[in-house]
Amino acid sequence: MTEQALRPHAEDAFAEELKALAAADDRPRPPRWNLSPWAVAKYLLGGTLPDGTVITPKYTGPRRVVEVAVSTLATDRALLLLGVPGTAKTWVSEHLAAAVSGDSTLLVQGTAGTPEEAIRYGWNYAQLLAEGPSRKALVPGPVMRAMADGRLARVEELTRIPADVQDTLITVLSEKTLPIPELGEEVMAVRGFNLIATANDRDRGVNELSSALRRRFNTVVLPLPATVEEEVSIVTRRVAQIGRGIDLPPVPEGADEIRRVVTVFRELREGVTADGRTRVKSPSGTLSTAEAISVVTGGLALAAHFGDGVLRPADIAAGMLGAVVRDPAADRLVWREYLESVVREREGWQDFYRACREVTSA
Ligand SMILES: Nc1ncnc2c1ncn2[C@@H]1O[C@H](COP(=O)(O)OP(=O)(O)OP(=O)(O)O)[C@@H](O)[C@H]1O
Ligand SMILES: [Mg+2]
Repeated sequence: MTEQALRPHAEDAFAEELKALAAADDRPRPPRWNLSPWAVAKYLLGGTLPDGTVITPKYTGPRRVVEVAVSTLATDRALLLLGVPGTAKTWVSEHLAAAVSGDSTLLVQGTAGTPEEAIRYGWNYAQLLAEGPSRKALVPGPVMRAMADGRLARVEELTRIPADVQDTLITVLSEKTLPIPELGEEVMAVRGFNLIATANDRDRGVNELSSALRRRFNTVVLPLPATVEEEVSIVTRRVAQIGRGIDLPPVPEGADEIRRVVTVFRELREGVTADGRTRVKSPSGTLSTAEAISVVTGGLALAAHFGDGVLRPADIAAGMLGAVVRDPAADRLVWREYLESVVREREGWQDFYRACREVTSA
């Protein structure tokens, strides 16, 4: 590879850590797993190895959540990661696949238009017309490849997929086989195969999981960060990682502006100020950790290119407005009310208040 990928896959970005973990890992590994369940959990949660190698934490949250997710993958049940937007479902799924199979790319992106072929297989039509159906003309989908190789497949946004297409997975998960009627053959799953699906519980209305399919999954709910501190540390760490990839200046640990973004998002999300004293209205959009990460990254880019390289209130005010005000009329009112009744009065927040006022009234 001559050019650096804009966003390398987890297994490449963290190749060194995975190698060190595999070398240090003397616990039993399930068939075809690159690491033991213990080492997979360590990869996600972070820690230090006996030889001093530091494993960076990928996921911040309850240890038990990670342990249940990892051990599910070692059983014959598939894993469903459920949660509100921005709770790291996709992120955790990618890192699990990278750690277990060394490959996070066997991925089906679920949409309302996902066809059955995306889950099963398609055909190379030139070859199909020339020679008729044959193994050579068959183009296996990600799930079929994972079955054949005993690796993890990922399905993103499972509940967005139409119900009849979702049901293709029932045979895969219960019989562990994928029939190819055109050839009178089947692909049987090799040990080590399993599936990680993600679904947003805000989208629930879209396509409920059929109960037949739901029974084949162990559901693990990823919670929102429990405290401001936890969320600040997630945002700080992710912004630093993203910033390094696009040459932004480093973020100082515990920067005031990050704490402010997180505090504002949490208060608007929860409908009450951190001290529990003032009720506030919630805007229409979701203000997740993921949005906080983008507001801070955007602010850092502004500071780097048009400021003095230090993240200041004015650098995050516009991004904040954009994140909060999705619906121009209603959300703008909510934001103004919050600015006047909460931000204006808060000690040490005067610069931030002025910066927000400036972009909001413009
Ligand atoms: N608890 C957490 N630990 C580590 N990173 C987190 C956590 N919560 C959110 N993030 C970060 O938030 C970003 C968004 O996460 P991700 O896209 O995986 O969310 P999602 O749950 O899949 O959201 P959606 O429902 O919108 O698809 C990622 O960069 C991830 O690192
Ligand atoms: Mg996602």
